Amino acid sequence: MVVLNTKVAIIGSGPSGLLLGQLLYKAGIDHIIVERQSEEYVASRIRAGILEQVTVDLLEQAGVDENLKTKGLPHSGIEILTSKQKHRIDLTNLTQGKQVTVYGQTEVTKDLMQARTEANLLSFYEAANVQVHDFYGRPSVTFEHEGRQVKVECDFIAGCDGYHGICRASVPEEKIKTFEKVYPFGWLGILADVPPVSDELIYVQSERGFALCSMRSHTRSRYYLQVPLTEKVEDWSDEKFWEELKNRLDPESREKLVTGESIEKSIAPLRSFVTEPMRFGKLFLAGDAAHIVPPTGAKGLNLAASDIAYLSQALIDFYQDGSEKGINEYSEKCLKRVWKAERFSWWMTHLLHRFETETEFEHKIKQAELSYILDSQAGKTTLAENYVGLPY
Ligand code: FAD
Ligand code: PHB
Repeated sequence: MVVLNTKVAIIGSGPSGLLLGQLLYKAGIDHIIVERQSEEYVASRIRAGILEQVTVDLLEQAGVDENLKTKGLPHSGIEILTSKQKHRIDLTNLTQGKQVTVYGQTEVTKDLMQARTEANLLSFYEAANVQVHDFYGRPSVTFEHEGRQVKVECDFIAGCDGYHGICRASVPEEKIKTFEKVYPFGWLGILADVPPVSDELIYVQSERGFALCSMRSHTRSRYYLQVPLTEKVEDWSDEKFWEELKNRLDPESREKLVTGESIEKSIAPLRSFVTEPMRFGKLFLAGDAAHIVPPTGAKGLNLAASDIAYLSQALIDFYQDGSEKGINEYSEKCLKRVWKAERFSWWMTHLLHRFETETEFEHKIKQAELSYILDSQAGKTTLAENYVGLPY
């Protein structure tokens, strides 16, 4: 068995793990990353697309914003389409100058991996049978890598291993409480090298179900359709996807929509999920390992980043000043922001999607709520404030 020693063992090389690694590296704190997938797999996963200003600032602080600065697209507004009528939410005017940036999670991941390679930092990809041990005492991590058994002794373990990871699953049942809401539909997403239908994102509420027109660049579009969970991605040809999207759009957008061959197509189920607390002795959970939001509020990746802002600072304070304050407050601080993003994501999902079980009365009430939000300055401000991201 190979035995290694480090300060922080990070499980998972998604955005949470990579960003934590980069911030610890900048502060001179020794760490390693253990990931079960291959490097190529991690670098090619297509997921989120919208970064809050605080996430952009954090990536700048981490020194990985060179591509983001040149290729990220700042957006000052979004459109909401209801009953074939468009309503613009002027994010910047409603939030005293804030905006969001369109920059894919795939790019964020690649930038962080590139920085890691340049700094020659240690990552174990394709690690099998990863296990975390004794996090209420002297923590360690074990795994198999290239035919060898590896043990990493450490001060802390950062569980950045996503919803299906082992860190949360390793916590004794009596120490953890989870809260969950599963939605009866998913999002069928398509990525295509065609120009976006509009300069801004369009969130579509229609009788046929929700749709979203998003983008990755001026030449690459990302579109989503609400579909029942029983749908299979193989049953959705590109033609069928574009046809259904057109059916959910207004005449002008339908006319402008440029279709083309898809380069990725997948279905993601929608879920709200929170773990309390987010710290168990010397094990911290961060990002999707601790919480999931439905993507309607564009919050998943941004919440992962805010957890990492708190966690990196807590660890830096611990190693630089011997202060345990940040460590002790980590869970409470994160959860305060997490629950607000959960509420917003749930609310946007509820407001914009079609629920089969909804009564006619509930449907009418929902329409009235949406109409109120979109016609009222206060309503639009509430939406904008949450969409651009609440302060840390
Ligand atoms: P992940 O990105 O899940 O990274 C966790 C990493 O841990 C992975 O690389 C995984 O392989 C690794 N891992 C897991 N188990 C182990 C183990 N046992 N040992 C070692 N490593 C392990 N958010 C949005 O805002 N908008 C979207 O459109 C959107 N679309 C999404 C689509 C899908 C299919 C999914 C799953 C999520 C989507 N999200 C979206 C959410 C967003 O992508 C996540 O919030 C974000 O990826 C969280 O980052 P993370 O690093 O915490 O977790
Ligand atoms: C995306 O571009 O993938 C995206 C954008 C906004 C969302 C969800 C996903 O709310």
